[in-house]
Amino acid sequence: MELRRPEEMARITNETLADKFIEEQVSLIKEQIGNQKVLLALSGGVDSSVVAALLSKAIGKQLYCVHVNTGLLRKGESEEVIDVFQNQMDANLIYIDATDRFLDKLKNVEDPETKRKIIGNEFIEVFAEEAGKLEGIKFLGQGTIWPDILESEKGIKAHHNSGGLPEDMEFELVEPVRILFKDEVRLVGRRLGLPESMVDRQPFPGPGLGVRCLGVIERKRLEAVRESDAILREEFKKAGLNKTVWQYFTVVPDFRTTGVKDGKRSFEWPVIIRAVNSVDAMTATVEEIPFDLMQKLVQRITTEVEGVNRVLYDFTPKPTGTIEWE
Ligand code: XMP
Repeated sequence: MELRRPEEMARITNETLADKFIEEQVSLIKEQIGNQKVLLALSGGVDSSVVAALLSKAIGKQLYCVHVNTGLLRKGESEEVIDVFQNQMDANLIYIDATDRFLDKLKNVEDPETKRKIIGNEFIEVFAEEAGKLEGIKFLGQGTIWPDILESEKGIKAHHNSGGLPEDMEFELVEPVRILFKDEVRLVGRRLGLPESMVDRQPFPGPGLGVRCLGVIERKRLEAVRESDAILREEFKKAGLNKTVWQYFTVVPDFRTTGVKDGKRSFEWPVIIRAVNSVDAMTATVEEIPFDLMQKLVQRITTEVEGVNRVLYDFTPKPTGTIEWE
């Protein structure tokens, strides 16, 4: 398989080129895999979903997808993965609800970097356990894309897809979208029949809502993050902002503020909304949300999300703030 993006390779900018890429990759995958089996960690993000759809098209039931629900995913994400890959594509999908495992490991953990490590390690452990149960797997599919390779070459960050699995688990890698940029991956995904909601997904951190439920994660507050995020996504979609804003989400801090609800004093969490634009996530500017949309969001979040009595908007660009709060 082509290791580098060829200098002369034209950008995949239209459906014809995307279809040609799919056709070529399907035959390359068939050649590489033969009658062997491939394992893939399917998070539901753009890259792993496109790889799953490509592999499924090429080798059908020789592909085994493992979807780990960490309990830190957005509302409806696991359900969508099951619906698309199990029900529509008829792929082998192994669904693991590991919510309790993750939340137990995160009990009383306050430091964001420790939370990240625990979530990353736990993910590998759950995935390796599942891999161990399957027999005769020779290949591991990965959603590596071209910017991952460029970044790891520059030494900016570890190439996050390249493993962490125990050393005794040796797989050959299958990385069918490694020569693509993100916009090309999205186009290929569309041509493979993946839903817009999956292909157009905004960036989402590996540790998920775990770094948006600030400080020590508590289940009720985690639900407040998930529910307020779902409302924000719904309202942004209605307003067409899901097509233009780079990343938008909610954060719930670990303190409460005084308010009034139904004529009575309340003491509940604030929800912080963040909506930013960026090209490469290294810097970011703040989206100017229309005031009437802000009011709608405040009204919905304070009435529909349990335990919340206040909504704030984060006006901080990056720098000085990072995109995430933790
Ligand atoms: P920051 O917060 O550093 O985020 O401005 C830049 C981009 O990276 C995402 N992000 C992460 N992605 N694991 C990831 O896979 C992480 O631990 C992580 N932390 C931040 C963030 O959502 C933004 O798109």
